[in-house]
Amino acid sequence: MPSITFAPDAPITSTSDAIAQEARAGLNATPKTLSPWLFYDEAGSHLFEQITELPEYYLTRTERGIFAANAEGILREAALGQGPSGKLTLIELGAGTATKTGILLTEAVRQQGSVVYQPVDVSETALDEATENILANIPGVTVRSQVADYTREALPLNRLVETRTLALYIGSSIGNFTPEDARDVLRNLRAQLLPGDALLLGTDLAPGNGSSKTIAALLAAYDDAAGVTAAFNLNVLTRLNRDLGADFSPANFRHRACWNPTQSRIEMHLESLLAQRVHIPANASGGALTIHFEAGESIHTENSYKFTSTAVEALLASAGFKKTRSWQDSQHLFAVTLATAV
Ligand code: TRP
Repeated sequence: MPSITFAPDAPITSTSDAIAQEARAGLNATPKTLSPWLFYDEAGSHLFEQITELPEYYLTRTERGIFAANAEGILREAALGQGPSGKLTLIELGAGTATKTGILLTEAVRQQGSVVYQPVDVSETALDEATENILANIPGVTVRSQVADYTREALPLNRLVETRTLALYIGSSIGNFTPEDARDVLRNLRAQLLPGDALLLGTDLAPGNGSSKTIAALLAAYDDAAGVTAAFNLNVLTRLNRDLGADFSPANFRHRACWNPTQSRIEMHLESLLAQRVHIPANASGGALTIHFEAGESIHTENSYKFTSTAVEALLASAGFKKTRSWQDSQHLFAVTLATAV
């Protein structure tokens, strides 16, 4: 079952309605699930920033290294075919605090003198931080941020004549969707672009197939020694308590990460340590709800799919993009792929 609804039956009138709808649907399902975007309240966004700096979490620094080594080529390639006065406008899905994006923005300013940057994210605090950092450190960037769920809402494409859009979707965020939802997210993006616009997609690579990644290293990235990923996962329960008045005891759950080789994904679960009941009071989205947990039963909270180059190309093609070029680190841990909207 898709974890994200692209055409919700009822209009989403407020974030807390959306939270309630997702939580009710997910916790009533078998097996129980919760949608990934629920992680990113203020505390969750902060914990996520800490994850990206963990020694075990190779993804962020590896992708940053690929940008640092190839920014010039990436932006030149994305701008190919532009008219002489044309510029790239950069838009970013799920921008967060946009720390890695700075490398690309700096290079865009170097190549074209100035750049308009439109970050989109569900976290307002993260976007505020992104805007502040960029304005303070990279002269020549105009930031137009938008708090939105890019799986549901239109992107802020303020297109000027002769500009081309380069959409950034980095950090392997696409891997947090099932293959069907990933295709729909990219199709939704494609529908808002014009032929010739570009997409830069960051994907974590699967172990094997020439990658030096071990399954142990992969698991450690999602279950770090300091317990930050565990805290990030458990924070979703705290959020449901605060936003919906639920009565989860986070101490009665534990974080569990496992590798699913058939689906080529890391799964994150919150496992109930005992048989227990949790309540969500009645609200606009429905009546009071009691959720039963068996000891050892888990809520499946997150997937992180790992890709081969072939899988990336096929995913892009299924959404109306043609791969133009890709860049990897020397250990083949991570891939950054540029594609054109066809
Ligand atoms: N997309 C990244 C990944 O899958 C970041 C991420 C999303 C993440 N949710 C996460 C990292 C949960 C750790 C835990 O790695």
